[in-house]
Amino acid sequence: MDMNRRQFLGATAVAGTGIPSRWSKVAPLLAAGSSPVIATAASEKPALLGGTPVHNGGWQAWPVWRQSWETEVLKVLRSGKWFRGSATQVEEFEAGYAKLLGAKRCLATASGTTALIVSLHVTGVDAGDEVIVSPYTFIATYNSILTSKALPVFADTDPATLTMDPATIESCITERTRAIMPVHIFGMPCDMDPINAIAKKHKFAVIEDACQAWLAEYKGHKCGTLADLGCFSFQESKHLPSGEGGAITSNSADLIDRCNAFHNCGRSSGDFKGQGSFTRGNNYRMQQFQAVILMQQFDKLVQETARRRESADYLTTNLKQIPGIQPVRLPENSRAVWHLYPFRYDARHFSGLSRDKFMKALSAEGVPCSSVYHEQYYDGLLDEAIASRGFKRLFSAERLKAYRDSFRELKGNRQVCEMTVAMGQNLLLAERGAIDHIIGAIRKIQTHSAELAKA
Ligand SMILES: Cc1ncc(COP(=O)(O)O)c(C=O)c1O
Repeated sequence: MDMNRRQFLGATAVAGTGIPSRWSKVAPLLAAGSSPVIATAASEKPALLGGTPVHNGGWQAWPVWRQSWETEVLKVLRSGKWFRGSATQVEEFEAGYAKLLGAKRCLATASGTTALIVSLHVTGVDAGDEVIVSPYTFIATYNSILTSKALPVFADTDPATLTMDPATIESCITERTRAIMPVHIFGMPCDMDPINAIAKKHKFAVIEDACQAWLAEYKGHKCGTLADLGCFSFQESKHLPSGEGGAITSNSADLIDRCNAFHNCGRSSGDFKGQGSFTRGNNYRMQQFQAVILMQQFDKLVQETARRRESADYLTTNLKQIPGIQPVRLPENSRAVWHLYPFRYDARHFSGLSRDKFMKALSAEGVPCSSVYHEQYYDGLLDEAIASRGFKRLFSAERLKAYRDSFRELKGNRQVCEMTVAMGQNLLLAERGAIDHIIGAIRKIQTHSAELAKA
């Protein structure tokens, strides 16, 4: 299945069903293309071979909104004060989001990508530097580093957690290394203690890519507050969406002042004055419309996060009983928020049924799923970057060759790319009966795996 995460999330969020009853009781949720729940009994014959799908009711559409939000959006429209500097909603959002996360400060940005670019700049990542990063992520993570004219150097992925394996970081260090960028992929916290310890030892900055990890927790603290800076995305597919949008969180007022200056065309901010009234910078500001849409959703995010966790725990308990299905291991004392719910698929327990055919069979049963990320470092993007005039000026030919060759060593990541199957967050919002359909559909495919493998 060759679908990127966003196409996949878009495709799964169609017919609305399984709308959590607590929401429909509070206020109607509105969504593009909602339709009522229809559940059918499981049939013995796999849907891919002409049987009845285990689940044919569709899933929660995404994004959703409430009629009550319209008043707030209209107020901004009618005020004519849409730009960050003309009113206070963006600042109110920043204060609210910082509080929600337990961070000292927050800066809203235009997107998650721009949050990462700003963070790299203020932590001193410059042209010709190197940043150690997870390869198992959305391509924007790589691009934020390339845009800073730095090299994204990949630590390997731990196949058990899908996140950066801290044991593989030290071998990535060169005299150019400046920062580490762990990614809490699918809302699953990275093991931050060993990552922070390595960074401290070598005086590297740590920027968390928490773009999929709103309210995820590691050892009692929220992702985005575990290192120097944390970056979030509020793009439409996200748990806290505003079409586009992003934020940077930190416990350092100085770093956030610097972020503010850089994201606001270099205007001095707070205690950060730069060399004069302007420093280097760009326009990466959030609009007031985005801020009011986001503020309406704080309570909803908290409640839906609890719901997703409940469903994910239930799935994990049940799926790990199925031979060949291995749910992900989380670091000790951490809590994921499940932007996607992934598991490892081992075809040997399914009569050799390929992962692609397994996913087709599962989708046919009414359970949309995806293989998500592949080995993106072979896609041409990095070849294009390292062949560019700028990168050739900044790095020696030997370094660029060794860099390109190092992709071969990413054995953990290769395994993850070959074995992962994941379901979208919207499935986790469904009622328990629909979650049982997911488990039932996988069991049904296993029972019929030999027929499916031959078909
Ligand atoms: C892990 C990760 N990093 C960065 C980004 C970039 O965020 P945005 O799309 O808001 O620029 C995303 C968004 O999908 C993401 O999932």
